[in-house]
Amino acid sequence: MTHAFHHDLAFSTPDQTTAFAEALAHQLVPGDVILLSGGIGAGKTHFARAVIQSRLAAQGLAEDVPSPTFTLVQTYDDTLCEIWHSDLYRLTHPDEVEELGLIDAFETAICLVEWPDRLGELLPQNALSLEFSTGGASDDPDLRHVRISGPAEQWEARIEKALP
Ligand SMILES: Nc1ncnc2c1ncn2[C@@H]1O[C@H](COP(=O)(O)OP(=O)(O)OP(=O)(O)O)[C@@H](O)[C@H]1O
Ligand SMILES: [Mg+2]
Repeated sequence: MTHAFHHDLAFSTPDQTTAFAEALAHQLVPGDVILLSGGIGAGKTHFARAVIQSRLAAQGLAEDVPSPTFTLVQTYDDTLCEIWHSDLYRLTHPDEVEELGLIDAFETAICLVEWPDRLGELLPQNALSLEFSTGGASDDPDLRHVRISGPAEQWEARIEKALP
């Protein structure tokens, strides 16, 4: 079994978070799942939007990336594969995950999942996890701490490359 790794990062502006998301975006391949956790307004959608728009832009495409708060899932067609952006906050039962088609998408698409705790036992094993938190004791409203963790074999080298 592969060992786990983690990195603790701090981003002091939305643009710094965007830059990291963009650096990671172009290294993603189908079957990659990124779990985005943290409180309301922590920056999960901001990060996902930057990943999606950066991949689309690399292929000359541009699309709005609304929060999937009410739709639960939004999909995008990157010419290489689908990107699934989901927000499971409003999920009432893990069974709904199957109905959404998310389990299959974990294998075939690039998936960005907000509120992944809702997945329960369906949480994919090889996912990268990003846990966002706001400044804590600091009163800087734009400061975000991000703990990155996941299986090293699949993710560590790519994270090293994307680090600021
Ligand atoms: N360093 C930063 N990184 C990311 N976002 C930041 C940062 N500083 C400020 N922000 C702002 O914080 C807000 C984050 O909102 P976002 O919708 O991404 O939150 P969320 O975690 O998806 O919340 P929800 O649980 O409601 O979906 C945005 O308005 C963004 O501009
Ligand atoms: Mg969100």
